[in-house]
Amino acid sequence: MKEFFITTAIDYANGTPHLGHAYEKVLTDVVARFRRLMGDRVWFLTGLDEHGQKVQQSARARGIEPGRFVDEIAVHFKELCAKLEISNDDFIRTTEERHKRVVRDILQRLFDKGEIYKAEYKGYYSARQEQFLQEKDRNPDKTWPELFGEVVEITEENYFFKLRNYQEWLVEYLQTNENFILPRYRQKQVLEFLGEPLNDLCISRPRERLEWGIPLPFDEEFVTYVWFDALLNYYSAVANRPGTWPADFHVIGKDILVPPHAVYWPIMLKASGIEPPRSLLVHGWWSINGAKMSKSTGNFVDPVDFVNQYGADALRYFLIREMSVGQDSDFSLQQFMSRYQSELANTLGNLANRTLNMINRFAGGHVPAAGVLDVLDREIRDSWNATRDAAIALNSEFQFHLGLEHAMQFAAAINRYAEQRAPWKLGKSSEPGGQQLLETTLATMAEGLRLVVALLAPVMPSTAVRVRALLGAAESSSWKGELEWGSTLDGSKAGETAILFPRPVTA
Ligand code: MSP
Repeated sequence: MKEFFITTAIDYANGTPHLGHAYEKVLTDVVARFRRLMGDRVWFLTGLDEHGQKVQQSARARGIEPGRFVDEIAVHFKELCAKLEISNDDFIRTTEERHKRVVRDILQRLFDKGEIYKAEYKGYYSARQEQFLQEKDRNPDKTWPELFGEVVEITEENYFFKLRNYQEWLVEYLQTNENFILPRYRQKQVLEFLGEPLNDLCISRPRERLEWGIPLPFDEEFVTYVWFDALLNYYSAVANRPGTWPADFHVIGKDILVPPHAVYWPIMLKASGIEPPRSLLVHGWWSINGAKMSKSTGNFVDPVDFVNQYGADALRYFLIREMSVGQDSDFSLQQFMSRYQSELANTLGNLANRTLNMINRFAGGHVPAAGVLDVLDREIRDSWNATRDAAIALNSEFQFHLGLEHAMQFAAAINRYAEQRAPWKLGKSSEPGGQQLLETTLATMAEGLRLVVALLAPVMPSTAVRVRALLGAAESSSWKGELEWGSTLDGSKAGETAILFPRPVTA
């Protein structure tokens, strides 16, 4: 069986990670964990894009060799993955030999086929974007958009890849593979781009201008250009792993869809005789406090600091709950705290806290078995089945934010149920049937809690493990089985009560 292969973009190694990097890794991780729980064999790749002018410049600014510079940056990105509990199976760095070998092989193959040629190139070049620009990239007043930084005109000899030969093929490919770009509305942008004739792609830089790259196998005076090197990471990482390629999903931000991932990448593969990836999952961008994130202005969130302060699950929850995949979102501490307090602390945390508390107070610390069920208990069970089915269907469509909303509504429904039943009163009552009702109530709360955290596991893996242990629940061999309402907790030993999401200490 083919592995379900999912990747993130590889981040530029010219600075420490920011919230956008964290989001993409968390989103990809949620998909990977969800698919694993659904029974797929998953291979999850992330990594770093370590060559290119920006890295060379950043290293020079620090007065160190680029190799040392990227080694330091790699430590930060790996730390980010560990902190965020990213379950990647591999981490590729484009300076690794396994990657460079594949890049050189493919370049040689394309050169031998006549798909790469040398020509003189004159044009406007943006060092910040590492890209030659075209007239259509200018602002209406003829200036260059700020995004490009300093733009200079240069003339030089370079190698070019015959993109244009594959334009018709790509248009047809997009039209016949409707799920190649998700969300689907982003496909329009790609087809619009392909409405104009494609320019062949400049794939090299003279070595005298850019040292820090992979030399072309057929001309060592040149190194590959950033995209030709970077995009191939997805393939080089699994070139020796039978049954993994093609990628099922490349998860990327909207800025690198057109042209790199939607145009260059499928054409590079087609020309090399390699199957194209199955889908690109394109997410939107985070702003912070309504403005572009920027280290220099201080409008910046360090995801590692944030995790140290609030925990990985809280940040993961917020990022996935707040952003609808594909749309942009804004991050603010105020909005984070509002969700943290109302959804995590008051709804989920409170449910866990009162459930364990009541079991310890009134049932000797063991989850009782449910006795007679009445209408309230049945409603909760029915609403569980509907919640689970809806959340799984939504997750399958990458609507994780809505899946979380359903899960939290279910947790809130159990809290309401607990308030109606008031086990704290039943525990003290001497009414006939009171004891039985108390046991049923505690059993329902415990089972509801067990289920909701199991459903949240792709987004909040630590909370799922912690609550499972607190309820004394056995680990299940299948997620499907774990998500069935049952009586597996009957008699299990509950832990001491716990505060899952403590109130943050405010200065
Ligand atoms: N190195 C290239 C990608 C090569 S993939 C073969 C690159 N690196 S990046 O560090 O600039 O961006 C990495 C990913 O982070 C991209 O998918 C990008 O869209 C994403 N994000 C960067 N800033 C972001 C936000 N503000 N919000 C959400 N994601 C953003 O591009």
